[in-house]
Formats: sequence, structure tokens, C-alpha cells
Amino acid sequence: MTAVAVRDSWATRAGFILAAVGSAVGLGNMWRFSYLASEGGGATFVLLYLLFVATVGVPVLTSEFVIGRLTQASPAVAVPRLGGAAWKPIAWMFVFCGFGILSYYGVIAGWTLRYAVDAARGAMGDDAAAYFGRVSSGGPAIAAQVAVMVLTIAIVARGVKSGLERTNLLLMPLLFLILVGLVVWAATLSDAGSGYATYLRPDLRELMNPRIWGLAAGQAFFSLSLGMGAMMTYASYLRSQENLAREAATIALTDTAIGFSAGLVIFPVIFHFGLQDQIAESTVGALFISLPAGLSQLGRVGDVATTAFFVMLFFAALTSAISLLEVVVAALVDAAGWSRRGAAVGAGVVITVLGAPAALDTNRLGAADQVVGNFLLLVGGFFICILVGYRLLPQADAELSRGLTHAGARRAWAMFVRYVAPALLLVVMYTSLGATWQAVRTLIGLG
Ligand code: PHE
Repeated sequence: MTAVAVRDSWATRAGFILAAVGSAVGLGNMWRFSYLASEGGGATFVLLYLLFVATVGVPVLTSEFVIGRLTQASPAVAVPRLGGAAWKPIAWMFVFCGFGILSYYGVIAGWTLRYAVDAARGAMGDDAAAYFGRVSSGGPAIAAQVAVMVLTIAIVARGVKSGLERTNLLLMPLLFLILVGLVVWAATLSDAGSGYATYLRPDLRELMNPRIWGLAAGQAFFSLSLGMGAMMTYASYLRSQENLAREAATIALTDTAIGFSAGLVIFPVIFHFGLQDQIAESTVGALFISLPAGLSQLGRVGDVATTAFFVMLFFAALTSAISLLEVVVAALVDAAGWSRRGAAVGAGVVITVLGAPAALDTNRLGAADQVVGNFLLLVGGFFICILVGYRLLPQADAELSRGLTHAGARRAWAMFVRYVAPALLLVVMYTSLGATWQAVRTLIGLG
């Protein structure tokens, strides 16, 4: 006799929220956000970012939640079911993004694991740049990437309750604690004030710079895990009646607060040690070279701070990595009838192999991030708006009303999903076409 498998689900509301925050909070918050803020006109970037989170991020996040809970299925099944067969390519683009992002994300997550372990053992040595060179590519990078992927696969294979929910319930509170500790500690450093000032000084000339708009929008999508069905997949494991718009706002606020707080750690450290020039040179360098280089001058306290910082980063990366793999696994389980275990191992191995070129060459890593982690997410977000706003508004509205009873609020949401968000997304996609084309050329080896 074969038992009909009951689809796994979250045990608690907190479990769902922490898992969604865990997906959102990741490498994106910790280095992309603060680096872009300093590049993109300080508070001006933060302002534009907040604008995109509110006008595009929250409406799209709510839409993803609505589709997920409404269909109780992976986007690979849900999207064609709602939109018709013509939407199949979009559904599989989401799965492709899961493969694509996790392949290089796992590499960077591997660096954070290696850093955390070596910092705790006091084995990083004095020359942070040389250390980064040693561990960030080639054999050591692949070894660390494999370690992270094995962990990710093991967690996803255990299922929603005992894998994803348990991991997030444990790691996310620890992450918050470490972050608060680091923010307080960083405030005590001399010159913390100039760090805050550079981070937050608004440069209003940048307000009209289309490149900064593109960066702020891309960052809003990447940071909130939008445009590729990750949040849709998580919401498909919801059984309860919560107010999805409120959950979306809570998650967006928490994610932003954490990205912002990471900057409150990074910038005081940079100014305390006078590392401003190095930061301007590379995004990756800011976090993986300058920070440990500065902190190593503080002796024991510095070792503790470095360890805490990279442990936090590793937790953030791992909880995002599992949401990326979950998109692929849920698709294989729901659309192709695979077992969860088989899907986790099969997809995980393929993703690890795909990531090897990124582990060997940071240029490819950056190019993959531009194409998949920036551009395709915006494309995905655009189509989510079209699907929800034009194909299933009555259904989506009914689903949303299970928690959000205020009809005016639902009408406002519908306006954003139909007009504001897709229009802004079109503009931003247009402005990032050039950079994306360049990155595609890098990926296929043309330049
Ligand atoms: N939001 C994650 C971060 O900020 C990355 C991510 C993107 C995770 C898309 C899932 C889906 O690091």
C-alpha cells in the first residue's frame, strides 16, 4: 500500500518568518549593501534603496507570498497552472536562477566558512591580502565550497520542518545577537564618527544618476530574494491565515535594518584603521581583505571580532543558500515527482560542479552575479507583476483578503502591482542592459 505523501509545511509562524528573513539576509546585506551605499552617494543610495523596497519590493514580495500560499505548490507548477502553458519558460527561469545564483553563492559562502574557522584558530596570518589570495580560488576555494554545499544539501534533504525551519530558528537569533554585539563594539572605536559620516552623508548629485537607480533596484531584489520564486516556494509551505502584506513588510524592514546595521560595523572599522582607499578598489576586498587586515592589529580583541564577524556572515550565507537550493528541489519534487532526498543530492551536486569556474575565476563570478543575480531577478519580478496584476487579480485579492481585511490597502497594493512596480522595473532593466550584455560576453568568453 502506498501512503499519499502530505506536503511538508512550517510548524510555526515564527519559523516561516525567520526562514524568510534567513533567505533575505545574506551576503547581499553584509557587503553589497554597505559597499554600494558608500559608492552610490551614501544616504542617497540608502534612500533610493528604501524607495525601491517600498514601491517594488514589498508589492512583489506580497505577490510571491500570495501565489505560493494560494497554490501550495512550487513555482514550477504554480506559475503555469495560474498563467497557462505559455508561462512555463518563466517558471523554469526561476529554477535556472536557483542553479545560477547558488553556483557562485556557494563559493563565497565557502570563503566565509574558511575565514570563520581560521580566525577562530588564529590561523589567518598577518597578511590579509595574501591570505585572501590563498583561500579565495583554486583547490582551497573548491574544498570550502564543497563543505558548504554538503551542509546545504543535508539541511534541504531533511525537509521543511526538520531541515529549513530548525536551522533558521537556531541560526537567525544567533546572527542577531552577534550583529548587535558588533555594532556596539564598533561604536567604541575612535573615528567611528567619520565612518558613519562617509556611510551616511547624502550626495544629492547621485539622486539623478540612472546607474545608482539600477544598483539600488537590483540590490532591493537580490537582498529580498525576489524575482526567482524563493519567497513563493517558502510561502507554499504556509497553511495558516496570516496577513501576507504585513509579513512582507516585516521581512523587508528586518532585512533592511540588518543590511544597515552591517554598515554600522564595517565603516567605523574602516575609518579606525584608515583603510578607505582599499575599499574603493574592490567590493570583495572591502570585506575579505580590509576588515581582517584592520582587525588583526587589535590582537586578541581583533581575533574575537573577526571570528564573530565571519561566523555571522557564514550563518547569513547558509540560510540563504538553503532557500536557493529549495527552489530547485521543490520544482523537481512537485513538477517531476522526484524524492526530496534525491532532488537535493542530484541538484546540489550539479550546482557545485557548475560553481567550480566561479571558484577558479572571480571575474566570472562577478559576471554571473550581474546576469543572474541582478538582471534576471528584475525580469522575473516584472513577470510576477504581470501575472498577478493582469491575469489573476480577483483570485490574488481573495487570497490576500484572508489576512488583510482592509479593502483600501488591497486596492493600493493592486495599483502598485499593476502600474508602479512594472513601470519602474522596465526602466531599471533598460538602464542595466549595457552592463548585462558585457557580463554575458565575459561569461561566454568573448571579453
Ligand atoms: N537575499 C540573499 C542575500 O541577500 C540572496 C538570495 C537571492 C537568496 C535570491 C535567495 C534568492 O544574500
